[in-house]
Amino acid sequence: MVTLEWNEDYELKIDKIDEHHKRFLEIINLLINVTENRSCEEEISLVFFRLIFYVENYFIDEEIILKEYNCTNLKEHKEEHNKFVKEIIKFQNEYQKHDKTVCKRLLNYLQSWFNEHILAYDRKAAELILKNESINKTNTN
Ligand SMILES: [Fe+2]
Repeated sequence: MVTLEWNEDYELKIDKIDEHHKRFLEIINLLINVTENRSCEEEISLVFFRLIFYVENYFIDEEIILKEYNCTNLKEHKEEHNKFVKEIIKFQNEYQKHDKTVCKRLLNYLQSWFNEHILAYDRKAAELILKNESINKTNTN
């Protein structure tokens, strides 16, 4: 499977959020590589480690930005993040029970999160932020 390359279609034009999303793409690529090398069982702990770092730091950052700009569906957005955390913990538990299908299923899950959350939910939120920002700018000028 080919690794994913960051491109401008993925950009939400908010630097901090785009930086986080690039890190997320790196985690997907890491998982693609270890799956391809059939070393997933040995190396998936590194994937979990990076995912936990990601959710602990970047979800909070993103939620702070969304709150700052009064994004309307913040509660729902936070719930989506919480659902993701729960799923990751579930995958981790399955891995600890030596479920060999975890790598592939986790990869599918991360890819769908990228498409369905990052490129949809986050994109919508970013569009709203940028719209509010330009309204504020016109109001102060
Ligand atoms: Fe998000």
